[in-house]
Amino acid sequence: MFITLEGGEGAGKTTQIVHLAGWLGERGVPCTLTREPGGTLLGRAIRAVLLNPENAGMAPLTELLLYMADRSEHIHQVITPALTAGRTVLCDRFFDATVVYQGFARGLASDWILRLHELVFADVTPDLTLLLDLPAEVGLARARRQLEKGDRPTAESRFEDEALAFHQRVREGYLQLARQAPERFRVIDAARDESRVREDIRSVVEPFWRQQPEISNE
Ligand code: TMP
Repeated sequence: MFITLEGGEGAGKTTQIVHLAGWLGERGVPCTLTREPGGTLLGRAIRAVLLNPENAGMAPLTELLLYMADRSEHIHQVITPALTAGRTVLCDRFFDATVVYQGFARGLASDWILRLHELVFADVTPDLTLLLDLPAEVGLARARRQLEKGDRPTAESRFEDEALAFHQRVREGYLQLARQAPERFRVIDAARDESRVREDIRSVVEPFWRQQPEISNE
């Protein structure tokens, strides 16, 4: 089973994915918890380049290709081996983020990005995508507070430095993808308390993993 978490800045994905991995683990589901960008050694070097505010002027196509390079390494080294071994992969962002950030928000053609993904990584599609949705201004304020408090390194603030309009396009882009693929997406209201969001995620995931043939539901 391949589950991805998506959402704008400050949506709480990183906290929630850790809870989800723990909860599934307690139910005997072996999980690989990973993220993009930065799920491999090479990917962490690419992440440092992509999120560094000193690279603010990076061309959108360069940005796209760096995310694709990170993903290539990640699929090859982490995702495919884990799925092949029968593990559940929980991934903090995947290709929907590319369609939304580099497409909807940055302005590259989204259909072209999707085609590129299909050409390069055709066989790797999530079974379930949890979209943690909240107003862009709320998420951005949370994310900027995390930076101020030192909970997130300022060397990774390139996207938090983008204007509110950019983050509003991110939100709209994700909601549009969710409408286009309702069988894969579940939209979760992430503006609420962390515990409420956690409960919603569990109730969405539970029937899903119970359907998986390889898992015994004693
Ligand atoms: P995060 O680790 O906090 O989610 O930060 C990663 C940043 O990278 C976030 O601002 C979204 C952005 N991003 C893209 O622009 N395109 C992508 O394909 C991915 C995976 C992330």
